Amino acid sequence: MIARRHARVQGATRELSPAFTDPAVVRAALADPPQGWVDVRDGELLASLLWEESDDGRAIAGIIGAAGSPEAMARLYAVAGDAWMARGLATHVFVVPSVDRPLADRLIDLSFGREEAYAVRPLGDRGGPRLETGIEVERVGLEHLETVTRLGDLLARHHEGSPVFDRHSNAFYSGLPEEYRRSVVDEDARVLIARAGGESVGLLLWRPGAPFPLYDERSAEMILLAVHPDARGKQVGRTLVSTAMRDMSSFGHTAAIADWRTTNLEASRFWPAQGFLTIANRYVRTVPERPTAG
Ligand SMILES: CC(C)(COP(=O)(O)OP(=O)(O)OC[C@H]1O[C@@H](n2cnc3c(N)ncnc32)[C@H](O)[C@@H]1OP(=O)(O)O)[C@@H](O)C(=O)NCCC(=O)NCCS
Repeated sequence: MIARRHARVQGATRELSPAFTDPAVVRAALADPPQGWVDVRDGELLASLLWEESDDGRAIAGIIGAAGSPEAMARLYAVAGDAWMARGLATHVFVVPSVDRPLADRLIDLSFGREEAYAVRPLGDRGGPRLETGIEVERVGLEHLETVTRLGDLLARHHEGSPVFDRHSNAFYSGLPEEYRRSVVDEDARVLIARAGGESVGLLLWRPGAPFPLYDERSAEMILLAVHPDARGKQVGRTLVSTAMRDMSSFGHTAAIADWRTTNLEASRFWPAQGFLTIANRYVRTVPERPTAG
């Protein structure tokens, strides 16, 4: 059922993996054993909702394994929601392909809101032409971890502000250098730094591979992009992305992936302007706490 659903989505979104239309490939990508619910009527499978728990205590459904009509999914969510709340999981997440508007609309009626956009840009043109912006981009390693941390923090600080309001703890900030180090060492992330007027003004990290198995396995992912506030709007971001895309292409990758908060106004304008097409969105609902006097 999941493979059939992917075939429908992939028909409209060719950048997704054609391999995922094979039930054996889907089976191999599922958790072992998968967890979730199915809706069976008169021996016929109508819908399935598989889910996993994220490190930060969210219940995530839909990356793979949410298949069925919007009505059937709503009924399964009622079952899932009860079970998640009983386990103390008050934040519920669905990832929905952009072509599945009816499911997205149904989730909005269930009080979900759009949080994140996932987008793809094919690299069939070898990542596009070299830009003559006068901005120098250098590939660096961990010897520049301090610069990476300084520029990388800008993204988290940007997310703290309005209208994103993504609040982080002090522990989160103090753990960032280790996160960046881990990305480079364990995930083979490539580090690009942009320089203008002798200063390091922008940072881009990308890594081979894709966040979800339904992407083409030859994809590569943009994992971090930040430009210093004083240098924004001067083509630094564009130069970094175009260098990264040509890098990806030279390593044999066929598509670039990026994702961003839909509340991040700069990113929401920037990525589509670089040719990225939104292929899925993340919808989120957080059930409010019970009143303390309740
Ligand atoms: C998003 C960000 C990286 C863009 O970098 P930048 O160097 O300012 O962008 P550029 O100058 O290269 O802009 C390239 C294009 O993006 C678009 N764009 C970028 N910022 C924009 C803005 N604030 N408003 C409108 N369009 C914008 C424009 O189309 C621009 O093309 P143009 O020069 O032909 O007008 C930068 O704003 C930033 O660091 N923001 C905070 C961190 C962040 O949001 N990172 C991305 C997280 S996913």
